[in-house]
Amino acid sequence: MAQNRKGIVLAGGSGTRLYPLTLPVSKQLMPVYDKPMIYYPISVLMLAGIREIMIISTPQDLPLFQRLLGDGSQFGLSFVYAEQPKPEGIAQAFSIAEAWLDGVPSALVLGDNLFYGTGLPKQLRQASETSAGATVFVYQVADPRRYGVVGFDADGHVDQIVEKPADPPSEWAVVGMYYFDAEAPRYVREQVPSARGELEITDLAQRYLREGKLQLEKLGRGTAWLDTGTHQSLLDAAQFIGVLQERTGLSIACLEEIAWRQGWIDAQELEQQAERMGKSSYARYLQRLLKG
Ligand code: G1P
Repeated sequence: MAQNRKGIVLAGGSGTRLYPLTLPVSKQLMPVYDKPMIYYPISVLMLAGIREIMIISTPQDLPLFQRLLGDGSQFGLSFVYAEQPKPEGIAQAFSIAEAWLDGVPSALVLGDNLFYGTGLPKQLRQASETSAGATVFVYQVADPRRYGVVGFDADGHVDQIVEKPADPPSEWAVVGMYYFDAEAPRYVREQVPSARGELEITDLAQRYLREGKLQLEKLGRGTAWLDTGTHQSLLDAAQFIGVLQERTGLSIACLEEIAWRQGWIDAQELEQQAERMGKSSYARYLQRLLKG
């Protein structure tokens, strides 16, 4: 059930590809145009109707996320924080979150993935309401070798998922957003680390595939999936958001706005958040929403 499903944002890692930017501060706190990167994946969970969220990061960075995001009540959410002492794979998030998840299904989103598209909220809600099995989303990319990639059999059904293949079986990359049923933590406990010593998210998805419980959703060409792994892609993402926001006057991943439109915070709470945002354009945007 959607109301039960809990969300996890994984914002760990050392971000070495963005050095020296990420020497003092976590990658997921870098700006993407007018807001910190982590706002974007949080917005995706909110659009799926998920309100209980665990933020996982390194021991050094966790206090910074807490300073930024607090207990989540300003967004009508409830945040808990957990440490990933060493980056030992994306699937490790489920070992860390196991007790907190307490047997409910989950959605995991990587803290550096950005999604945008009009059809997206509907797809997210549908995946969230599917209580059995797992859903992974795939997106067509020009260079799939940097990602997890799915392969299809002659009938168009997914028959393999491979991590960073030198010779990709298709152009369909697995994006950093995964919906799992309550079995995920148990499956991860049974998993063995890969050759690079990590608990691979791809292996977890493979397990669901083997058990006939993996659902694949294509994000169509009307959707944007951006990553922020390099200086150039970080700039591209910022420009993408900037172009759309300046053209339409609408903010992307404005968490207060999403909460207010979902009825999770009222006008008075929105007003308080606007005041908190000082003299920023972000504050003016929130004020404008209130004026209708
Ligand atoms: C991870 C996953 C990969 C997925 C990608 C999406 O890779 O292992 O399967 O396609 O995220 O962003 P990473 O970016 O951690 O190398």
